[in-house]
Amino acid sequence: MIRCTSITELRQLLAEQRKQSPDSRIGLVPTMGFLHEGHASLMRRADEECDFNVLSVFVNPLQFGPNEDFERYPRDIERDAAIAEKNGIDILFMPSVQEMYPTKPLTKVLISDVTDRLCGASRPGHFDGVGTVVSKLFNLVQPTKAYFGMKDAQQVAVIEQMVHDLNIPVQIVRCETVREANGLAMSSRNVYLNEEQREQAVVLSQTLRDAQSWLEETGMTTGELTKRIQASIEKAPLAVIDYAEVLIYPSLSIIEPHQQLSQLSGTLIIAFAVKFGSTRLIDNRLFELQ
Ligand code: PAJ
Repeated sequence: MIRCTSITELRQLLAEQRKQSPDSRIGLVPTMGFLHEGHASLMRRADEECDFNVLSVFVNPLQFGPNEDFERYPRDIERDAAIAEKNGIDILFMPSVQEMYPTKPLTKVLISDVTDRLCGASRPGHFDGVGTVVSKLFNLVQPTKAYFGMKDAQQVAVIEQMVHDLNIPVQIVRCETVREANGLAMSSRNVYLNEEQREQAVVLSQTLRDAQSWLEETGMTTGELTKRIQASIEKAPLAVIDYAEVLIYPSLSIIEPHQQLSQLSGTLIIAFAVKFGSTRLIDNRLFELQ
């Protein structure tokens, strides 16, 4: 595995690879580092499906709000490098902020509608930062396939929309959420949780599991389901709900509260963001309606 911090070197390495094997499938796994088993599952999928894989580790300031955790976002590049190497990565691209944004970017990628709700609503500007950095990474690497986790289901919907709208020649691969043994979705931010918060955070995955049977109840409406979800999360005394919503996926369009779910078809998403102390956790699950 080659570690690389410069854009020029990254382009050279990729050009050499393409010259040697013109048909090689290039995989890209974009991350912000402090890697865990969720990230590793994306790398392994890339390794299975592609011939040459790039992992980017870049804590992107553009996607953090002024009062968010950009400065204190956990970082451990040596550990990340070891995990990347073990999981079939060929190039670890870890640019500095100066390298990615040598001047203030005056061009941004703004994605509308799919960003109106959920994290798009509670973190204004977040997805503009994600869209901008991911399109830069797509331009730098020009991957055949790029791997994203469904843990961030709205991010997947946003990237798919951007790729569709701008005709970016990359295939987006949706990867399943990887969870701890107790169900908690793995996240770099889980390290912020104390023991009590971590125990109570199990309520999130439990709620998503229970939701399956609530959905099957006859006459259940979106409004009732949303209330059940909120009540279930609030059973954890430390949980403070930022949002908990039931929407259509991947458009993330609203369903009227009185709508009976048994009369709908397509894919539904239950998604929430919940704070435990100062740590904001997100989780979601998709449900196929008949
Ligand atoms: P980050 O939070 O580091 O996540 C990198 C990728 O790993 C994302 O696609 C995310 O969905 C996936 N991932 C995180 N936890 C996961 C889990 N438990 N199971 C499966 N996949 C998981 O998402 C970002 O970084 C950034 O927004 C980025 C796309 C890199 C742009 O800056």
